[in-house]
Amino acid sequence: MKILLTGGTGYIGSHTAVQLLNAGYDVVIVDNLVNSKEDTIDKIKQITGKEVKFYKADVRDAEAMDKIFSENDIEGVIHFAGLKAVGESCEKPIEYYQNNLDSTLTLVDTMRKHNVKKIVFSSSATIYGIQESPKYVETMKRGTPSSPYGTTKVMIEQILEDVYKADPEWKISILRYFNPVGAHESGLLGEDPKGIPNNLMPYIQKVASKQLEQLTIFGNDYNTPDGTCRRDYLHVVDLANGHLKALEKLDGSENGVYIYNLGTGNPKSVLEMVNTFKSVNNIDVPFKFGPRREGDLDEFFADPTKAEKELDWKAEKTLEDMCRDSWNFAKNAMN
Ligand code: NAD
Ligand code: UFG
Repeated sequence: MKILLTGGTGYIGSHTAVQLLNAGYDVVIVDNLVNSKEDTIDKIKQITGKEVKFYKADVRDAEAMDKIFSENDIEGVIHFAGLKAVGESCEKPIEYYQNNLDSTLTLVDTMRKHNVKKIVFSSSATIYGIQESPKYVETMKRGTPSSPYGTTKVMIEQILEDVYKADPEWKISILRYFNPVGAHESGLLGEDPKGIPNNLMPYIQKVASKQLEQLTIFGNDYNTPDGTCRRDYLHVVDLANGHLKALEKLDGSENGVYIYNLGTGNPKSVLEMVNTFKSVNNIDVPFKFGPRREGDLDEFFADPTKAEKELDWKAEKTLEDMCRDSWNFAKNAMN
């Protein structure tokens, strides 16, 4: 079965490409490389020993998308492509709405023309906004995210639901990721953002490798056991496997829109993360406490029960695995 991955040279897409190829799927990738590099394709091939077809194109380019669907017998799509920096999206809302919404609309329009009506979409826990309980369940209503980035996810979920309402031949899986970290155990694939990272794990990696002097932990007066925020970190390879399970499930299900949280259900604090990274890798990560970062919540985590029951998916890797694999990748990336 041939699957198109939009944004497939990115962090989560590349790991998913590996898991799909290993499971016997054919993979086609389209990416405009705005936040990834073409040599990721070689790395995917190196890990799997399999071929991947790559198109350097913008998903908003209807002609390019039409060509991809004409040249390949695509049966389903996993839609990763999007801009994802929370802070940047507050400074550049127009670019974020344009990129994330237009790419989705062009994609589903092209799919409809080619009669491909199976899609898995990368959504985010951010769509929950602020809820009464930090344990997010799929039955909760979508809330108000703290950034335009998050709002694009809310809007795309709504667009996909409307697409299904208008044409019940669609099979749609919406995956709400919690906090993906870690890297492929080969050390070839991982997350290496350009410039100063916004997210915790890439920042820790840059401090451990002495590219940045020290980590600032944003706030230690939160309502959590050690005062630092708690999040549901999950290993990117576990997350990638969730996409396989979602695809398999769609094949065996009736048409419809299916929504799943992908997380471990076990929140960890910033301090726990830093301490685990230090001890597993036997390396120092100097840090100081600073003021809270605007928009951060004390804690939130997944109720992963639905994915466990319906997808037969469960995050298996530990925080130790996440820290070890992240550092293994970061060391490799420096050489
Ligand atoms: P990433 O930036 O590594 O990957 C996204 C890829 O999409 C990049 O390779 C980028 O070049 C490509 N892209 C962006 N706009 C494009 C366009 N218009 N046309 C073609 N390619 C385009 O990010 P990621 O961490 O792999 O995230 C993948 C998806 O998962 C995104 O939609 C993101 O919003 C979502 N998500 C990520 C996280 C996270 O913490 N990493 C959490 C929740 C949801
Ligand atoms: N943190 C620090 N110092 C840093 C960076 C982060 O203390 O230098 C803290 C944050 O305050 C937060 C925790 O580490 O408490 C995690 O922060 P991240 O930025 O890594 O992750 P977030 O939970 O803020 O956001 C992430 C993604 C969003 C997504 C959200 C929910 O970046 O895209 O998870 O899925 F919406």
